[in-house]
Amino acid sequence: MTEEERLAKEAAERVLQRSGKKKEDVEKEKEAQQQSFLVEGNPGSNIKHVIAVMSGKGGVGKSYVTSSLARCLKNQGFKVGILDADITGPSIPKLFGVKGPAYAEEGGSHPVESKGGIKIMSINLILPDEETPVIWRGPVIAGAVKQFWTDVIWGELDYLLIDMPPGTGDVPLTVFQSFPVEGIILVTSPQQLVSMIVNKARNMASMMGIRIIGIIENMSYFSCKKCGERFEIFGKSDIDSVSGASGIPVLARLPIDPSVAEFCDKGEVEALPDEDFEKAAAAIIL
Ligand SMILES: Nc1ncnc2c1ncn2[C@@H]1O[C@H](COP(=O)(O)OP(=O)(O)OP(=O)(O)O)[C@@H](O)[C@H]1O
Ligand SMILES: [Mg+2]
Ligand SMILES: [Zn+2]
Repeated sequence: MTEEERLAKEAAERVLQRSGKKKEDVEKEKEAQQQSFLVEGNPGSNIKHVIAVMSGKGGVGKSYVTSSLARCLKNQGFKVGILDADITGPSIPKLFGVKGPAYAEEGGSHPVESKGGIKIMSINLILPDEETPVIWRGPVIAGAVKQFWTDVIWGELDYLLIDMPPGTGDVPLTVFQSFPVEGIILVTSPQQLVSMIVNKARNMASMMGIRIIGIIENMSYFSCKKCGERFEIFGKSDIDSVSGASGIPVLARLPIDPSVAEFCDKGEVEALPDEDFEKAAAAIIL
């Protein structure tokens, strides 16, 4: 150690003593800073809360739930955006009936606004042809998702909801590491191994230091229009016992409803009623 280095070390130690912090704590803080992969958002974005919508497997209605929560929050007067992180299976533009291309300028791209004023960004609004499949490899996909954060001018948003691809793979990992995600909404359906999915999601969330806000069970039952009887078509749900064991609240149990599929197909998810989503929206707001 040169004389200069020794003096620098002594000075650093004096500063540490004065700050009242233990040396180990300072080392730990440094480490945490180095481990933080958070990326800076676009200078044109001011986003208050980022919420991710996740599921164990595909086709359980994640995008429908994301869109409905966005609609519900928007109807309550909040400024809302949806980042479609499902690069290989983007469906948000279709649910809202919006088309690209997103307007791009030097500072970044602008999200496309839905009829109801929800800001949307999706790979389908960037690529010229929505019928051509995205066949990129993992890192390229993860890079594209990051660009939806760094290169999109979101403007002022109260809530940015992230529609994830199914599972706990590359993209969720990138999203949790790179964006300041505040909470996760987990979507399940009764025909899955719900306890396994919830545990997996819970483990991932705790490793990332993110809270699971609650579970929404979709396609829970079918309600007969004539007599009102409820049929649990996919078998008896064990969501209540899973919720009890994990301590994660159930925020909604959504029926199978043919009009949901119809409105989603027509690109009119915004015309569906909010009722079933109000409790979940309230849990996000709190
Ligand atoms: N409660 C419901 N009643 C009737 N149809 C539904 C319901 N929820 C979702 N659907 C329909 O099921 C299909 C799948 O829904 P959605 O695209 O939201 O699932 P996802 O989990 O996002 O799928 P992916 O894993 O492919 O992204 C859609 O066609 C949607 O209209
Ligand atoms: Mg989807
Ligand atoms: Zn009946």
